[in-house]
Order: sequence, then structure tokens, then C-alpha cells
Amino acid sequence: MRFFIDTANLEEIRAAAEMGLVDGVTTNPSLLAKEGRNPIEIFREICQIVDGPVSAEVGSTEYDGMMAEAHKLAEIHPNIVIKIPMTLDGLRAVRTLSEEGIKTNQTLCFSPSQAILSAKAGATYVSPFVGRLDDISSGGMDLIGQIITIYDNYDFETQVLVASIRHPMHLVEAALMGADVATIPYKVITQLIKHPLTDIGLQRFVDDWNTVKDLVQF
Ligand code: G3P
Repeated sequence: MRFFIDTANLEEIRAAAEMGLVDGVTTNPSLLAKEGRNPIEIFREICQIVDGPVSAEVGSTEYDGMMAEAHKLAEIHPNIVIKIPMTLDGLRAVRTLSEEGIKTNQTLCFSPSQAILSAKAGATYVSPFVGRLDDISSGGMDLIGQIITIYDNYDFETQVLVASIRHPMHLVEAALMGADVATIPYKVITQLIKHPLTDIGLQRFVDDWNTVKDLVQF
């Protein structure tokens, strides 16, 4: 399973990259707005930190505008993946970009039927938003299972990129289902390692070691 980090914050990206846990990065207009900087500069800097796919989302909602932005974003770096919303214009843009050999990440996916359309359009990745479905009492992880089953049934090449992850169990369930990628907020990345029994056990080992360490002669 590949781990992408879901942020536009360069410090978080650097910290996660130093852990060796970043295979790529996803951003979106809301994450970029938090940084208050020129998004193009952020994309450039991210591509210097992480050697992997970096999703940069178009702001346009119309086909012509999407295509114009996509071509400019693609020029930033070979690792740039164009993030396109799940709309009819978005599907058309994904199809054209796919034919041009430009990688795409179709975002704001909330149903199996949308995911089928993305795969048929040739999207490189589809981003089902599990957390936002859970937020409205609708099974986000059920959607992941449905998409993976459907994609396996027809050998679709589109990769399932689980997004809107809220906690470690989203990641664990996605991995159990065989999702290709999880894009994870920095906070959740730091939670993955945590277990109270590990902390308790380590403290006991340290305490016991301290009773004999002076006897050690290497
Ligand atoms: O990349 C999509 C992801 O950032 C959405 O997450 O937490 O805004 O639902 P969230």
C-alpha cells in the first residue's frame, strides 16, 4: 500500500518524509488556502521534497478552463498529477488528459457509479472521500469495498486512492480491502505508531535494563 500525505504544509511533508512514510502528496484548494501562499510555489517545493506523485487540483469547473489549467500544472514537474472533480466536464477532461498521457486523480468521489465512470474515462487514480461519508452516517469504507470489487471484476487500471481519512482504522480497513493508496493527514500518520501497551512495555524494559546495565561489559 502506498502512503500519500494529504496536506500542502511543507513542514508536515518534510517531517513525514523524514520518517520514510511518504510515497506521494495530495493537495486540494482548501489545503492550499490554509497556507496562504502561491500554490504554484508550493507545488514546486513539494516536488523538491517528495519524489513521487503530487496531486495539484484545477480550480476551474468548465472543461476548457480545466484543460488550460491542467496543461500549466503539468509543466511544473513530471510528478504532478492533475486533480479533477467528479463532474461531466471533469470526466471529459480526465479522458482527454488520459489520452494525452497526463496522469489524473479524479476527486470528490462518493458513489460506486462515479468510480465506474472515472475508470472508464481512464483516470490514473480515483479519490473516494470516506471521512465525509462517515460524517453523514453513510459507510465510507463500504464504498471502498464496492469500488475494489467492481474494478477487480473488469480489470480496470484506475488506482483506488482512499481519501478523507479521519483515523488509523480507515487506513487499516483500506489495507485489509487491498486499496492501492491511502492519502493520510499528518496527524493520522503520527497516530499510526501509537499503542499504550507498547509504551507500558517499553517503560518496563527500560526500568529493568537500568537495574543491570552497569554489569554490561561489551
Ligand atoms: O484530498 C481529499 C481530502 O483532503 C479531503 O479530506 O478531511 O477535507 O474530508 P477532508
